[in-house]
This record gives sequence, C-alpha cells and structure tokens, in this order.
Amino acid sequence: MSWGLKNRVERLMKGGRTVMLAVDHGYFQGPTTGLEDPRKTITPLLPYADSLMLTRGVLRTSVDPDLEVPVVLRVSGGTSILKELSDEVVTTSIEEAIRLNASAVAVSVFVGSEHEKETLANLAELVNEGERYGMPVLAVTAVGREMARDARYLGLACRISAELGASIVKTYYCEDFSKVVNGCPVPVVIAGGKKLPERDALVLAQNAMAGGASGVDMGRNIFQSSDPVGMMKAVRAVVHEGARADDAFRLFDEGQAARQIAR
Ligand code: 5RP
Repeated sequence: MSWGLKNRVERLMKGGRTVMLAVDHGYFQGPTTGLEDPRKTITPLLPYADSLMLTRGVLRTSVDPDLEVPVVLRVSGGTSILKELSDEVVTTSIEEAIRLNASAVAVSVFVGSEHEKETLANLAELVNEGERYGMPVLAVTAVGREMARDARYLGLACRISAELGASIVKTYYCEDFSKVVNGCPVPVVIAGGKKLPERDALVLAQNAMAGGASGVDMGRNIFQSSDPVGMMKAVRAVVHEGARADDAFRLFDEGQAARQIAR
C-alpha cells in the first residue's frame, strides 16, 4: 500500500474513528428530502464532518473550493430508483477524483443482486486504478432485495469487498454486528438508513461502535433531522467521545431547545 493511499485513509479516519456526512443520495433518487438545495443543507454541517461523501456534480455546484473537509467522491451510478439499482457502472474516473482533490472514491456493490458480478468488477477495477494513484476505495455494500440485512449476508458483502481490496467498507447495522466487523479486515462504517427518531439513530450509532465499527457514514438521520447541526454534534459525541446514546440525545434535545429560543 502506497504512502499516499495510507495518508488519504488517515485523513478520513483520524485516530481510527470517523463521522462521514453522506449527501450522495441524489445520484439515484433525485432531489431527496432535505437535499433539495444541497448547498443550504451541507454548508452548516461542514464544521462537524470528518469527511463529505458526494458526487462530483454536487461538489462542483454546491461546495466552495476553500473546503477543508476531505471528500469521498461517489463514482458509481448510472441507474435510478425507477430501474434495477444494481445495474451500476463507474461514472467518474480516478483521474477526475484526483483533479477534484478527493481523499477516497466510493462505489456500491450489490451482493446477491442481479448485477452482483458487474458491481464487484467495478470495485476491483477501481481498486486496481486506485492503487496506481494512491486513491483508497470505499465499498458501499448492499445485499439483494430478498436477503435479510443480517450478519450473514452483510458479513458476506463486507468480506468480499475487503478481499477485493476496499480500504474502508460501509454497511448497515444488524444484530450480531461484531461478527460482520470481525470477519472484515478493513475498517467498517455504518450507514444510518431511513430516518429514525433521533434517539433511535443515536442508539444505532452506539451499538455499531460497541460492535467494533470505526464510525458512521450517515445521511438522512442527519440532514432530515429537525436539528441537523445538533444531530451531527450528538453523533460525534457517540463516535469520538464514546458518549452513551441517552447522553448524546440530551445534548441534542437541549441544543435544539436553545436554538429554537434563539430564533
Ligand atoms: C446510498 C449511499 C448513502 O450515502 C448511504 O445510504 C448513507 O446514507 P443514509 O445514512 O441516509 O443511509 O451510499 O447508496
């Protein structure tokens, strides 16, 4: 592994833990609730993000170039919620990722889906290219629609991604999550998934950290919150300070009340 690749991973995961802000949802689901105006959503959250995961389109149009937060560039896509989601191609080259000063590229793998093989080939191709330039690859794992999101299938997807050379793997939290982490020789971060009540999302983060996750790559549970900045701070407390979900939720609740009074 080259020094450059290691350096980029370190930038993303200082001290081995990370709170990534995922705002790439529009690449397959259009103007997602909370991301209709990406700049408006992203700007106030930047001071609290260890990295920003997004497409080149949103990076170019909605983020100023004096950005200091490392970028994880979503480079797979080419399909939409109206079609088969696993039918993805690589949409953005490693050279473009370098021009955009990305710290990693992200690609989805759909294990057990119709286009499993192609998505795994996308990952392998990006790892091969990434090794040439010192660019880490984050594998975003999904499993087939008919498969349970459990430790068996998520563990399968994570392990395959690591075997193909991903530097970081993103998955969903599940029961027996430590089995997923223990079977995966690279850092694992969790997606938040659909919007949950804030306290539940913090419990999810707490349980993932207890199960050995290196952090979160969270989107909707942040930017669809009634107080996105407060939620970022609360998630950071869980990930970086080991706060209990209840204490982090109190932080969120008190902060939200204070911000409402100030308005
Ligand atoms: C979609 C993604 C999203 O970034 C991911 O799902 C994280 O967002 P959320 O916390 O909203 O699930 O990679 O493929």
